[in-house]
Amino acid sequence: MKHLIAPSILSADFANLQADVEMINESNADWIHVDVMDGVFVPNISFGFPVISSIFHHAKKPLDIHLMIVNPDKYLEDFKRVGAKILTVHYEACTHLHRTIQAIKSLGMKAGVAINPHTPISVLEDIITEVDLVCIMSVNPGFGGQKFIEQTYEKVRKLCILIREKESDAMIEVDGGVSHQNSLALLKAGANVLVAGNAIFSSEDPSMEIAELKKMRVDTLEV
Ligand code: DX5
Ligand code: ZN
Repeated sequence: MKHLIAPSILSADFANLQADVEMINESNADWIHVDVMDGVFVPNISFGFPVISSIFHHAKKPLDIHLMIVNPDKYLEDFKRVGAKILTVHYEACTHLHRTIQAIKSLGMKAGVAINPHTPISVLEDIITEVDLVCIMSVNPGFGGQKFIEQTYEKVRKLCILIREKESDAMIEVDGGVSHQNSLALLKAGANVLVAGNAIFSSEDPSMEIAELKKMRVDTLEV
């Protein structure tokens, strides 16, 4: 089974983003994961449109933008403009999630929904056929380099079952504390997009780390 690797630029060298984007371009990575934090939905602020535009200018891989912001509806067109290919909003930040997902898709982007560690898979029952991707947070969002929450495996399995039951095409992305220590188990549970920040950028050879994550193979899923 094929899976995708999305290095999180949050752990890159912000004083030399171009070099890290070029490293990703030349690597086995599939997407570039871009974390946007507003200091309201999460207790941290990352970066905004000018920085994302600069990343896009150098990127040869699709931008997978993860919005950790309140009121994402206000900015959907802006994120399209700065290069989002996949745009993911948080379930916990969207009162009218169905409307938000339709709006993202009508702008020509893939639409994702992210859920916090405390949010059960069951809340996705009535939206799963509408989304292109579900991002299961395996840390509390806001910071890179946090410890992976073990309960994530069970959530991935539950989501895998829900996707099959509802005949959805949604991809299962796992974000937070992902490394070569847990990635095989995540793939066996049914994950097909792995986001990794710290594991890649703190490595002595980031592009080798990406290659290691990419070369894992799983023939049969647990569920
Ligand atoms: C956390 C972000 C993640 C983060 C992952 O709020 O959504 O994408 O950058 O970084 P690591 O892999 O270091 O946990
Ligand atoms: Zn993220």
